[in-house]
Amino acid sequence: MLKMAREYGTPLVVVDHQAIRDNYAAFRRHFPKVQAYYAVKANPEPAIVRTLYRIGASFDVASLPEFMLVYENIKALPPKDQQDFIWDKIIYANTTKPRETLEALDQYKPLVTYDNLNELKKIRQFAPHAGVVLRLRVPNTGSVVELSSKFGCDPAEAVDLVLAAFKMGLVVEGLSFHVGSQCMNFENFVQALNISASVMQESKDRGYAIKILDIGGGFPAPYHRDVQPIEALARKVNAEIDRLFPKDIQIIAEPGRFIVATAAVVIAKIVGKARRDGKTCYYINDGVYHTFSGIVFDHCQYPLQAFKKGKTEVCAVFGQTCDALDTLSLAEELPDLEIDDLVFAENIGAYSSASATWFNGFPPTRVVHINESEER
Ligand SMILES: Cc1ncc(COP(=O)(O)O)c(C=O)c1O
Repeated sequence: MLKMAREYGTPLVVVDHQAIRDNYAAFRRHFPKVQAYYAVKANPEPAIVRTLYRIGASFDVASLPEFMLVYENIKALPPKDQQDFIWDKIIYANTTKPRETLEALDQYKPLVTYDNLNELKKIRQFAPHAGVVLRLRVPNTGSVVELSSKFGCDPAEAVDLVLAAFKMGLVVEGLSFHVGSQCMNFENFVQALNISASVMQESKDRGYAIKILDIGGGFPAPYHRDVQPIEALARKVNAEIDRLFPKDIQIIAEPGRFIVATAAVVIAKIVGKARRDGKTCYYINDGVYHTFSGIVFDHCQYPLQAFKKGKTEVCAVFGQTCDALDTLSLAEELPDLEIDDLVFAENIGAYSSASATWFNGFPPTRVVHINESEER
């Protein structure tokens, strides 16, 4: 790490593609019946898309630029049938789409989500070749980032929304849900699967069979010891899938954080040091407007570590911008450090660089990729 910091300078984000491949392999091993559509929003680096594509992943996108990013990076590979190609590889899983986006997407015959009648009418008008997936609102209790206040139809309205789509001449290919990101309460998945199964059954009874179940994201990254291992979640989810759904159902998921969170580290430099109210304050050349944006947007903390050894004391760490919100921690444990010393934070691959800004004229932190090819 130090060598890379010397070579490239700081701040620096290092993304390890072997860790991405390992996380993807772990996901597939634990959920063997589930195709993983990597949620590009977690980290949209094109090199990550390429690595995941090479090992068989598909992709969940949330905007036209994300769709094109994936499309452009994977289109060199032989499309069999254009429609299957897109559906096998990309789901557009943002329930609200500007009409211009729908118009641009229509030529790709995309798979898109909806959760209300207005969106359905828009899809019918501007992307009539789309296949649609109805997003259900499911319990998000105990997930770190809750999504159910913004997305998903009430399960009681679901069958009506399925029928409405078919009446408009659209085909409901699937149902989807999201239990909330960094889901620590695995019962959310159990309840969501049960809700989905009853909507699917009722739709089938009304003559409309639905082929795809999209179990969304939420698979927790092992940021700390309280996070239960993915095995425990897999046991529950796989048992419910076997119990509730027909054998020929296609199951997909949209893991973001689980695939990339542990694959990146950020290295930053101390650029200022002060003492206020009896506490040492360090200022580093990254911050919450940049790689540490997950502190604000993702309710995440990234413990800082020093390369220097020594007795630690409680200190405050701030970013380099002139906003007081740019506070990494008011209670970090670090040894006594000097200006130009380096610090680092692990597990910062998800929802970090992805939401970095140019605030105060500081550009997003440079990203370097290692182990891109499989030979090490
Ligand atoms: C629709 C959708 N799918 C997938 C994800 C990825 O979730 P996670 O990173 O928790 O796996 C998100 C995250 O917000 C999302 O909104």
